[in-house]
Amino acid sequence: MITIKTKEQIQKMKAAGEILAACHREISKMIAPGITTLEIDRFAENFIIKNGATPEQKGYNGYPFATCASVNDVICHGFPSHTKLKDGDIITVDMVVNLNGWLADSAWSYPVGNVSEQHLKLLDVTEKSLYLGIEKAVIGNRIGDISNAIQIYAEAEGFSVVREFIGHGIGKDMHEAPQVPHYGPPNVGTRLKEGMVLTIEPMINTGTYRSKIDQDGWTARTIDGGWSAQYEHTLAITADGPLVLTSQQLDR
Ligand code: CO
Repeated sequence: MITIKTKEQIQKMKAAGEILAACHREISKMIAPGITTLEIDRFAENFIIKNGATPEQKGYNGYPFATCASVNDVICHGFPSHTKLKDGDIITVDMVVNLNGWLADSAWSYPVGNVSEQHLKLLDVTEKSLYLGIEKAVIGNRIGDISNAIQIYAEAEGFSVVREFIGHGIGKDMHEAPQVPHYGPPNVGTRLKEGMVLTIEPMINTGTYRSKIDQDGWTARTIDGGWSAQYEHTLAITADGPLVLTSQQLDR
């Protein structure tokens, strides 16, 4: 069942999203060779709690951390660790903020130091694909219109779109209906209505989209060792068009 949110509820989710966006802005300043993903995770958890919210991912289906930290060939759900980030790495930090029972979900990829041209292009194309998807998130369109816009663009740029992990409805629960794939034909799936709140979170790879899960039961990585990037926003479908609830202002 798809839950429709009132304007007041959307504002509550936006308040959670503002904390999340502010946390990403701080993290973007911390990313540098030498920092560990566990240091970033501790910062994020403290930041969220200091702002009167809670990190929803911690304890979700047994997930042990406030953030997912996915480096290089890791697609998503990487565990923060004591391993230092190195010059040339790329990292995705994903988190969900719970403020007074209402959630916001946003992941962002960052370059570490000097990143190769191919991987900078991966970051750029993945971010742009998110915004192409968001443009399609208007009343009367269908989920497939979002999916297709992302796939057509990412593949035209020579990259692949992850199939196993997709966007989702969100509200008081992290994962609500409908599912939001980042691939597939246009003009199929749920028709978008005012008050729906969704995540769009394309994971785009340099090589194959196929993934495998590590022994830890969470870390998803590419089977061919190609690198993966991800950008995710939470957004509401409104009469005035898509309203991004996790905007960092500096982004598009
Ligand atoms: Co999500």
